[in-house]
Amino acid sequence: MAVRMPRGAYLAVGLGMNLLLGTAYSWSVFRAALIEEFGSRGADAFTALLPFAAAMALETIPQALWFFLPAFLANPSAVLWGRGTPMDFGRTLRDGERLLGDGKTWRGLIGGTLSGALLGLLLFLPFAFLDPSSSWSFGQPASDAGAAAVLAFVASAVLAFGALLGDVVGAFLKRRMHKPRGAKAPGLDQYDFVVGGLLLSLLVAGWSVPRFFSGDGWYGLLAIILITPALHRGVNILGYRLGKKHEPW
Ligand code: CTP
Ligand code: MG
Repeated sequence: MAVRMPRGAYLAVGLGMNLLLGTAYSWSVFRAALIEEFGSRGADAFTALLPFAAAMALETIPQALWFFLPAFLANPSAVLWGRGTPMDFGRTLRDGERLLGDGKTWRGLIGGTLSGALLGLLLFLPFAFLDPSSSWSFGQPASDAGAAAVLAFVASAVLAFGALLGDVVGAFLKRRMHKPRGAKAPGLDQYDFVVGGLLLSLLVAGWSVPRFFSGDGWYGLLAIILITPALHRGVNILGYRLGKKHEPW
C-alpha cells in the first residue's frame, strides 16, 4: 500500500531545513566577523559560544546540498530534454513489460547529464575568479585553474549521470513490479536518483568523499537524505503545473 506524507509534513521539513540552513549560514558569517575583528581571540570567543566542531558540521550541511545540485537538476532537465528513442529501444521482457518504458530516453539521459555538468561548471566560475581555494568551489581540490575547471565539470557530470542511472534502475524495478510509466513507487521515486548519484560519485572519490562520505561530510549526506523528498515533490509539482510532467510526483 502506498504511504503518502501529508502536505503539512513536507512544509514542516522544508521550513525546518531552511531554518537550519539559515542558522548555519548566520553562524559562519558571525564567526568570520569575530575573527576579522579580534583575530584568534575572536575565534576563541566563538568556540566558547558554540562548539567549533558543531559549527563546522553546520557549514557542511548547506555545502553538501550545494554540491549535490547537479544531481538534483538531472531529472528535471531530463524531463525538458526527453523525447525520441527510448533507452530500451522498445524492448519487452518475458514478463510482458517493457525493459524500461518510454519514460527513459537517450535524449533525456544525455541532456540531463550535460545540464548537470554545465550547472557545476557555472557554479564553479565565480569562485575561480574570486576565491579559488574556497571550500564552496566545485573545483577543489585541484593543482591549477584548468584542472579545477575540468574537475568541476567532470564531477558534476558524474553526479548527474549517476542520478539518471539511478532513475533508470528505478524504472526497471517499477516495470518488474508491473507498474506502468508514471505510476508511483514511494521510496523508489524519491531516492533512486540520490543513491545513483552518490554511488557513481565514488568514481571521483577525491572530490566526493570529503564532501559526502567522511568527517563532517556525513552530516551533509544526512541533510541530502532528509531534504530530498520535499525538494523532489516541490520540483515535480512545478513541472506538472508548467505542463512539463504528466503527474505531480
Ligand atoms: N525522461 C527522459 N529520459 C530519462 C528520464 C526522464 O526522457 N532518462 C523524461 C520522460 O519524458 C519522462 C519524464 O522525463 O516521462 C519524467 O521522468 P520520470 O518521472 O523519471 O519518468 P516517468 O514518466 O514517471 O516514467 P517511469 O515510471 O518509468 O519512471
Ligand atoms: Mg515518474
